[in-house]
Amino acid sequence: MADIEPFRVVEMLTRAGELQAAGVDVVHMEAGEPDFPTLPQVVAAAKAALDAGHTSYSPAAGIPQLREALSRWYRQQHNLDVPAERIMITPGGSGALLLMSALLVNPGQGILMTDPGYPCNRHFLRLVEGRAQLVPVSPAQRFQLTASVAEQYWRDSTVGVMVASPSNPTGTALTTDEMQALLALCQARGGNLIVDEIYQDLVFGDAAASVLGMTDQAFVLNSFSKYFGMTGWRLGWMVAPEQAIPALEKLAQNLFISMSTPTQYAALAAFEPEALAVLEQRKKEYAQRRNYLLKELRAIGFGIEAEPVGAFYIYANIRGLTQLDSKDFCLQLLEEHGIAITPGADFGSHLASEHVRFAFTTSLEKLQEAVRRLREMFC
Ligand SMILES: Cc1ncc(COP(=O)(O)O)c(C=O)c1O
Repeated sequence: MADIEPFRVVEMLTRAGELQAAGVDVVHMEAGEPDFPTLPQVVAAAKAALDAGHTSYSPAAGIPQLREALSRWYRQQHNLDVPAERIMITPGGSGALLLMSALLVNPGQGILMTDPGYPCNRHFLRLVEGRAQLVPVSPAQRFQLTASVAEQYWRDSTVGVMVASPSNPTGTALTTDEMQALLALCQARGGNLIVDEIYQDLVFGDAAASVLGMTDQAFVLNSFSKYFGMTGWRLGWMVAPEQAIPALEKLAQNLFISMSTPTQYAALAAFEPEALAVLEQRKKEYAQRRNYLLKELRAIGFGIEAEPVGAFYIYANIRGLTQLDSKDFCLQLLEEHGIAITPGADFGSHLASEHVRFAFTTSLEKLQEAVRRLREMFC
């Protein structure tokens, strides 16, 4: 337990909530959680699933209909051939991360991953007595892990590489060539490539390269939380190499038995064309917010060293504005100006004290209000 740190953004959310309860008008840009409600089609399908009595355990890999719906969706949306048999439904992307860690990492072994990166990853590995082998990544690499850097950090105990594309906290993605080079490195070293594609459908320009089009041997996780706006439903999935599925099913049976069954039936409705049209519209709105915030933050003096191509984050350098540690800076913004953002320390230690993450998971009007307050402070 001493090695497991709290998920600080949740603590920040709590403090922001307290201030709000005390009457402070807080602009929330701390949580990586869509502000849009779950689609009404999905909510209706959940109610119908309950009425139809879909309330018992499901197979550990998920209901076949949802695995097949995802397979069809990969074909239609991404032109990718991903057989349903390789798709496992999991309790959020988090459940997939736990299964992958348990499957791939023996005690003492490690996975290379970026610092900064999604903070829970290192704790999943710790839980299975493995190690997150953190690689400091910098603006020059768009905060992504490249094959040449991964090679430098590869040790005898390394059994794979984990990347997120687009990533949290930076929203940057790997190019096709970069992904292919990482894949080649993993193959040459007999390691596994794990790709977190949870923000893959929230890419604003050209689609980000999916490793699923390059190999059937990578481990990919994804989720209904972000693009589908279903954080609280706790539903995700993974795509794994065919030969890994029986072991993953065995693990899932023991760890979770199954996912929530009504939730799985509900998610089927997210693939209806009208539902997907709404999600695409929401993506456009995220893109608008991104463009607005990027321009305004730069004008105020934040250093945006790597522009996000997807997700809903901007990772910004504060050194042009303050000498404060980013944790103190975030506290000051929250306590004195009602602006909630996340300090770099939530995502690692490399350059953390000079970076903060803005999540544009709130309306354009609220973002404008935050910008107005920031301008008052700095301009
Ligand atoms: C990069 C990344 N991976 C995984 C997750 C886990 O999400 P969930 O368990 O809600 O699918 C998150 C959540 O913020 C994330 O940002």
